[in-house]
Amino acid sequence: MRNVMLLSAGLLLILCAGAVFADEVVDPEVVAHAERLAVGTCGTCHGVKGVSKQPKFPRLAGQNPAYLAAQMKAFRSQQRGDPDAIGYMWGMSASLEDSTIEALAAYYAVQTAVGASVASDGASVARGREIYEKGIEAAGVPACSACHGPDAHGIADFPRLAGQHAQYVMKQLASFQNNMRNVAVMHGVAQALKVDEMRSVAVFLETLP
Ligand code: HEC
Ligand code: HEC
Repeated sequence: MRNVMLLSAGLLLILCAGAVFADEVVDPEVVAHAERLAVGTCGTCHGVKGVSKQPKFPRLAGQNPAYLAAQMKAFRSQQRGDPDAIGYMWGMSASLEDSTIEALAAYYAVQTAVGASVASDGASVARGREIYEKGIEAAGVPACSACHGPDAHGIADFPRLAGQHAQYVMKQLASFQNNMRNVAVMHGVAQALKVDEMRSVAVFLETLP
């Protein structure tokens, strides 16, 4: 009996060695479970492939996997706490295991991001681009591109913003400003932004592919 167990443990190791990804063993059952969740549960709001149609629900397709995983953990530990996070995502994430979170993040990261492609007023888009690329020096607002990348596709742990719903982006900027979503870096960035500046940069981001 013992020998059989040792043998199967050995076999399992060999099998898993082929599936080592980013230093982690990817269990096909966990991947399948995450996909079922993404399609059957999360998809109701975020879209089956992470391209949500409703502006209240952020688009997850093509988002940075490290960022996605960090956010799901922040909802689960009830740290990301603006009213929509509390109302929708605290419950959704409460019983997610770390391995499921990693697999969900991987699922969304490889989906094709689709821009929201809305017609918006040219003056706001132009002002938004200026803020995104140069910041507002007089008010001490840094260029967003420094962290989120020149194309807003995100870099390292910084999230992708391109093609995100403007309404969602605006609401997040306001939540960073009033610390309902308590993140020091983004609080510093959003601190001095006026409402119309938040709107401009959000509208600009929504137009990006
Ligand atoms: C009933 C609707 C609903 C369902 C179902 C739902 N979410 Fe959400 N989700 C939201 C809302 C609303 C937000 C935005 C919260 C906020 O404004 O802070 C959100 C935010 C998120 C974010 C943060 C995105 C970002 O850009 O920061 C992630 C990640 C996420 N959800 C993943 C999931 C996963 C994974 C599931 C399934 C296990 C799921 N959601 C199910 C409504 C939902
Ligand atoms: C110094 C780096 C830095 C700069 C500059 C910066 N950001 Fe961020 N931003 C971050 C980080 C880090 C996060 C992730 C916060 C978290 O962990 O919740 C973030 C998150 C965000 C989010 C939330 C995304 C989501 O899906 O919920 C928005 C929106 C955002 N930033 C917009 C902006 C805008 C607009 C600017 C320019 C006015 C800007 N950022 C400048 C670092 C930065």
